[in-house]
Amino acid sequence: MIVMGIESSCDETAAAVVDEKGTILSNIVSSQIRDHARFGGVVPEIAARAHMDQIEQIVQMALDDAGLGLDDIDGIAATCGPGLIGGVIVGMMAGKTMAAIKNKPFIGVNHLEGHILSPRLSDGVEFPYLVLLVSGAHTQILIAHGLGNYELLGTSLDDAVGECFDKVGRMLGLPFPGGKYVAQLAAQCTDRQAAAEKFPLPRPMKGRQGCDFSFSGLKTAVLRYCDDLKGDGDKIMLAAAMEDAVADVMDNRMKNAISIFTTCYPHVEKGHIVSGGGVAANETIKARLTRLTDSHNMIFTAPPAHLCTDNGAMIAWVGIERLSRGWTDTMAMKARPRWPLEELKKDNI
Ligand code: KG4
Ligand code: ZN
Repeated sequence: MIVMGIESSCDETAAAVVDEKGTILSNIVSSQIRDHARFGGVVPEIAARAHMDQIEQIVQMALDDAGLGLDDIDGIAATCGPGLIGGVIVGMMAGKTMAAIKNKPFIGVNHLEGHILSPRLSDGVEFPYLVLLVSGAHTQILIAHGLGNYELLGTSLDDAVGECFDKVGRMLGLPFPGGKYVAQLAAQCTDRQAAAEKFPLPRPMKGRQGCDFSFSGLKTAVLRYCDDLKGDGDKIMLAAAMEDAVADVMDNRMKNAISIFTTCYPHVEKGHIVSGGGVAANETIKARLTRLTDSHNMIFTAPPAHLCTDNGAMIAWVGIERLSRGWTDTMAMKARPRWPLEELKKDNI
């Protein structure tokens, strides 16, 4: 079985071709970052137009790279939400059009399910597992009980963690999106302890029950220090202090999640914790989660960076999993700016 996946919910126009064994036959991602950088954030109108300009050629490149034509594809999967609605409509309509013309099954994919299932594509992780989904738009901890059955344990009450990284990046004068650059600055810090002492930052929600997050207080605390920074040395230390504060919060929230997971699945030996979304590429956070997971006799799996950030392969993989079970969608499927994961369960009944 071979499925094409199309992704256009934010600022990446992406298409990929994947088979049922998880072989990625092609994976083309075109980023619009340069179009948005001067605005310091993704501008929905610009994004939608750029997706429209790009989509046809990205789909063609994905087919060419895979050495296949549309006739060789068994199904077409496209993100139908959640995301910036203009972009979602572009990718969804491209997918529906190809499916209609070639009389192929269409699978309307929830973008978040793409991130949740990508460790099954990269590492064949089996259900059930614990998921930390951390991106520019989302900060969620979930249990993936089975396909389409995801239980939300916690989420951010305000900013998403990636948004917090991006805002801190902006305060430090770094390019957009700042997460990667904050991480690069932090990596130059030779004394993290000294950084934490020089810039004591809050750990919002740490020590509280449950798995919710909050990042707006951390962002404001970083801003307070920004006026008095003396040179690059201070910037490096502040970036490191911020990254460690985030990692500390992640560690604490995931500890609670592990205890919920093990209560729910007491007989699962060596359960998996997986991470997804752009922030999951952060090495400091990864190292903390690996340590936490080891200490609970669990296994930590993070897909490779190119499958953590938005891509078409993860959408194609959701298509493979759903199509294998005969779960397809009709042309009546709608594009949705909001699409809570819990609704996927109802969709399947
Ligand atoms: O999943 P993603 O590509 O797009 C969505 O938001 O759906 O995630 C992008 C986010 C941005 O906020 C970006 O700054 C952040 O992931 N990011 C990072 C790193 N690489 C990307 N944040 C922290 N450390 C990184 N290494
Ligand atoms: Zn994403």
